Formats: sequence, structure tokens, C-alpha cells
Amino acid sequence: MTSTQTPETASYKPVSFSQTTITELMIPSYSNFGGKIHGGILLSLMDKVAYVCAAKHAGNYCVTASIDAVNFLEPVEVGELVSLMASINYVGNTSLVVGIRVISENVKTNKVKHTNTSYFTMVAKDEQNKTVKVPGLILETNDQIRRFIEAKSRKEIKENYRKEVEQINVPINNELCMQELSGERCIISA
Ligand SMILES: CC(C)(COP(=O)(O)OP(=O)(O)OC[C@H]1O[C@@H](n2cnc3c(N)ncnc32)[C@H](O)[C@@H]1OP(=O)(O)O)[C@@H](O)C(=O)NCCC(=O)NCCS
Repeated sequence: MTSTQTPETASYKPVSFSQTTITELMIPSYSNFGGKIHGGILLSLMDKVAYVCAAKHAGNYCVTASIDAVNFLEPVEVGELVSLMASINYVGNTSLVVGIRVISENVKTNKVKHTNTSYFTMVAKDEQNKTVKVPGLILETNDQIRRFIEAKSRKEIKENYRKEVEQINVPINNELCMQELSGERCIISA
């Protein structure tokens, strides 16, 4: 945990080593019928920047294991310049959490808006497609320390949530169904 070097910590890398930014102009073919940029275009760019950042840190191929909730705060317009800034927030054993901040700039007015921040969990794999250990992370700023601890907390919350979801088991029982569905906007026609 301190900066003292041991054979194990010799392979640690600083966050700055893999920080990556992708910038792309939003062209008309990226838009939906409402004239705004498709959410899927942004997700694809986010996956790309997460991959580059994770692979740089891992020194290996990485796959996307999961994506935390992606909330689009503002629509992105055709003609805007989108920048996606990625950095490693947390490393586990074979997994890494990449934090991505997405901003969009109107190139005529230079007005910049924050469209979303998301977290991608990537897992490193070797050439035999086996999961492989990733280098540890050197935290050099208070923000990097905060992001590491926040990512660790989110991981614990997700694990508890996953366990709770696994417990959900709805027996098809008329009385229980009627109780659960009371006030909901559905009609049973089965
Ligand atoms: C993600 C994947 C590598 C996990 O494989 P696995 O055999 O379950 O591996 P393990 O259980 O040993 O977990 C490996 C690591 O991944 C993490 N992990 C696995 N599933 C996860 C999930 N859904 N969300 C977050 N982390 C996950 C584990 O916590 C573990 O982290 P750690 O080593 O840092 O402790 C595997 O399911 C996979 O290859 N999935 C397909 C990924 C892919 O193709 N993505 C692109 C989609 S098109």
C-alpha cells in the first residue's frame, strides 16, 4: 500500500500510464429519427476507450465483463465534438474498472456539456483466452484514491445486489400475483 518497492509492486503502473482520450465528430449518419445522436454510438465509443485504457494497463487483451448504469444527462447533437476520457479507477486480481467521462462540445460556440460518466469492468485475458492477473495501480492524487475507494464500494454494492436478485423467485400463486399487481398498469389475460 505504501510506495516501498517489492518484486510484486515493481510491476505496478500509475493511473497516468493508461489514461486515454478518444475524440470524434458527430456526423449525420450517427443520428436517430429525432435528429440526436444514437445512444448506441456513444456506448460503442465508450467500449472502445475502455478497451484501450484497460489493455494499456493490463498489457494484455481485455474483454468487457459489465457496464454500470449509463444515464445520458443531455442529448448530443450532430456537429458536436464528443470526447471520452478514460482512466483506471480500480484493479482487482484479473479485472479493472475504467471510469469514463463523456463531454460534448459545440465547435461553433465552444460550449461544453457533460453528457455522462460511466464505469466499465474489463477482464484481462492471455493468448490462450485465460483470465490473467493485472498490474497493481499506483495512486498519485487524492482524486485517484477517492475513485479507487468509490469503485471498491460499488463492487461490493453490485455483489450484494446480484445476490438479492438471485433470491427473487415468484411462485405463480393467484392471491400473491393479485397482491403484487394491484395498482400496476397491466391486465392478466392468461
Ligand atoms: C467476464 C469473464 C472473463 C469472466 O470469466 P469467469 O470465468 O467468470 O472469471 P472469474 O469468475 O474468474 O472472474 C474473473 C474476474 O472477472 C470479474 N467478473 C466476472 N464477471 C463479472 C461481472 N459480470 N461484472 C464485473 N466483474 C466480473 C470477477 O470479479 C473477477 O475479478 P477479479 O479477478 O479481479 O477478482 C467471462 O465471463 C467472459 O469472457 N465473458 C465474455 C466477455 C466478452 O466477450 N465481452 C464482450 C461482449 S461482446
